Amino acid sequence: MTLNRRDFLKKTAMGTGAVMMTDKALSSTLSSPVILKGKDDRVVRIGIIGVGGMGTNLLKSCLTMPDVQIPAICDINVAALTRALNLVEDSGRKRPEGYANGDYDYLNLVAREDIDAVIIATPWLWHTPMCVAAMKAGKHVAPEVWGASTIEECWELVRTAEETGMQCMMLENHCFDRIEMSALKMVREGLFGEMLHYECSYCHDLREVKFRPGVEFGEKGEGEARWRTKHSRKRNGDLYPTHGLGPIANYMDDNRGNRMVSLTSTASKSRSLHEYIVQHGGNDHPNASIDWSLGDVITTVIKTQRGETITLTHDTNSPRPYSNNMMAQGTKGLWIYHRGLCNSVYAEGRSSGHQWDDWEKYIPEFEHPLWKKFMADGVRGDHGGAGYLKVRSFIECIKRGIPTVIDVYDTATWIAVTPLTEKSIALGSAPVEFPDFTHGKWLQNKPIFGLSDEY
Ligand SMILES: NC(=O)c1ccc[n+]([C@@H]2O[C@H](COP(=O)([O-])OP(=O)(O)OC[C@H]3O[C@@H](n4cnc5c(N)ncnc54)[C@H](O)[C@@H]3O)[C@@H](O)[C@H]2O)c1
Repeated sequence: MTLNRRDFLKKTAMGTGAVMMTDKALSSTLSSPVILKGKDDRVVRIGIIGVGGMGTNLLKSCLTMPDVQIPAICDINVAALTRALNLVEDSGRKRPEGYANGDYDYLNLVAREDIDAVIIATPWLWHTPMCVAAMKAGKHVAPEVWGASTIEECWELVRTAEETGMQCMMLENHCFDRIEMSALKMVREGLFGEMLHYECSYCHDLREVKFRPGVEFGEKGEGEARWRTKHSRKRNGDLYPTHGLGPIANYMDDNRGNRMVSLTSTASKSRSLHEYIVQHGGNDHPNASIDWSLGDVITTVIKTQRGETITLTHDTNSPRPYSNNMMAQGTKGLWIYHRGLCNSVYAEGRSSGHQWDDWEKYIPEFEHPLWKKFMADGVRGDHGGAGYLKVRSFIECIKRGIPTVIDVYDTATWIAVTPLTEKSIALGSAPVEFPDFTHGKWLQNKPIFGLSDEY
């Protein structure tokens, strides 16, 4: 299954891959330190940084995989670290070495020679420094989802991946959701004709996550309230774009024949965080006097090179059930999925009398092969199984020495949406251009996501 150099070249610079590498970087990837003991006996050695809520999920996924070892884990929270070390030991593996000696102890983890790749699930501001340090130490990286703080941060990831030849795959689970992957197959196989427009959102009432305990956050907060909430205080933009946009980027062949070229973004007024504090902490609570920057609803319109439009909504402060409000529309029909409300298809010539069909009707034909196999093998892991699939995809690509199906250019483009929306809103909803992180290679690159039933 390991690709030889010629296959690898075909799959990258000349062919279907999206990773552009210099010869130096290429040889570095080919000599990546995966232990090759024979076809079925290969092990990938993973270090994990950050084992709070999400890092623990990622760790648990890794522990279901017999070909994954965990030599080291880092978290500044000793209780979280100890829980994680125990989980590994309880799985029958050797107890990993723990790193908890302050904010920069992760540098000691990434320097280890017995690690092939690093998974990162820390607060957003740590993602890029940790990814960069890991890649510079010769490790592939898989950061959890986030939005960048600056465009320069996105370029730093791209530059480092190109210079080191290491892979950087954002772990966006929604790309691996069953429903979203079936829609990918529908789009690719032309059920909706030529694509015109997409919609997606991150609508997640996070008020009880942003304030915990009570209406506290920051130093007095717990879990994500310790670090996530402060972004809403000072920033006004789409702070978390990738849950909706990741799958859409795959539908529209972003960075692979198409690209997002510009966006405009508009923020509603900010009310809900203040109201929540007053309701649960009273008018006299010190947090009731905070002037929150983040608008309650951020609406962004993205234009693509091929002339499609994408609307993207960010809504994390108002009371409502969770939904990514997905829609993919072409000249011959559309799919629309609002979690808990509808998951429907209208396909001209197949649906009758302008009536919606249930998504299930199309599943015998459009179940994605990755999910067919996953269901046959037994669905497992967090986020309905997508949490497992994204980690498995990363591991499989590392083992095979092929580009990860979400690469550094995808990661950089998707996280760039956050600073771009902030800039557009600050300029009164002015159009803002996306940088071309691929340096023009998007013209030749071919899609790589969702082509296999194994990754
Ligand atoms: N994919 C999803 O659906 C999903 C869901 C939740 C969170 N996330 C993402 O996962 C990431 C982590 O979120 P979370 O909910 O697990 O947050 P969390 O607060 O529960 O965990 C973060 C952990 O990082 C540790 N940490 C902080 N600074 C560190 C440092 N310098 N070195 C080592 N460890 C450090 C903290 O002690 C904590 O245990 C974020 O990017 C978040 O957006 C993704």
